[in-house]
Amino acid sequence: MSSEVGLQQMLEVAVSAAREAGALQKQRLWGDFTFSFKGEVDIVTEVDRACEEMIVNRIRSAFPGHSFLAEENLYADGDPTWRWIIDPLDGTTNYAHGFPWFCVSIALEREGELTLGVIYHCMMDELFTTTLGRGAFLNGAPIRVSSRAPLRQSLIATGFPYDAARGNENNFRNFFELQLAARGVRRAGAAALDLAYVAAGRLDGYWECKLKPWDVAAGALLVREAGGTVTNHMGEPHRIDDHRILATNGLIHDEIESLLERAGKAEPVL
Ligand code: IPD
Ligand code: CA
Ligand code: CA
Ligand code: CA
Repeated sequence: MSSEVGLQQMLEVAVSAAREAGALQKQRLWGDFTFSFKGEVDIVTEVDRACEEMIVNRIRSAFPGHSFLAEENLYADGDPTWRWIIDPLDGTTNYAHGFPWFCVSIALEREGELTLGVIYHCMMDELFTTTLGRGAFLNGAPIRVSSRAPLRQSLIATGFPYDAARGNENNFRNFFELQLAARGVRRAGAAALDLAYVAAGRLDGYWECKLKPWDVAAGALLVREAGGTVTNHMGEPHRIDDHRILATNGLIHDEIESLLERAGKAEPVL
């Protein structure tokens, strides 16, 4: 089997796992489900866990021996050459409150390099897919980042970690500076969808401060393959274990980066 055929087959399995989990999310939204606390504000629902099990089982049965990094569980490591990075339900707070803005995010690394990404937004039936070097797609049609600039005319997005009010890594000062400089800043609550929207040109940029690999793996590859730029907040190439991300259409990247730098030097908010 050529590696091209192998990658296509992996994409198909990831897509079917994402669609299956998305169908469950849609079916159970606005119904009864239990949830538990990971922290004072941070919750996880039984749907998050059920989706993760569904996705991991499906991928594992197709590719036994691959390894996994998923949000809700630790899985005994398989072959480290192939590592699936999974956020079974990105936007859990939205989901738990019946705010229909959440998605499934699945990525695959080969020897540490992102090679495939799938983000599925079941409520809009929108499937974002990408494979390394082959571009980015929405429901099968190619997508590209926007060509909008400057920042003053741009719509951008961010998010806040669950412990936003504590620690020294808060995002309020950044939010303040960027809201003043851009046409608007959105804070919708699902990092992977924010990235998918940058890739599709619906947002011109997105930054956040305290993310995990499963929040960004698929979306970062999607943005790059859609012609965008993805770095940390210092303009260095983004790695999935960087907590800070800045993803843009490329044209407003420097403007946002310098505002983040300025905000970082200012008195912290809170
Ligand atoms: C969260 C969402 C949110 C972001 C948080 C993430 P979860 O992921 O992506 O947009 O602001 O930092 O933790 O827990 O809903 O999968
Ligand atoms: Ca979570
Ligand atoms: Ca997440
Ligand atoms: Ca999640």
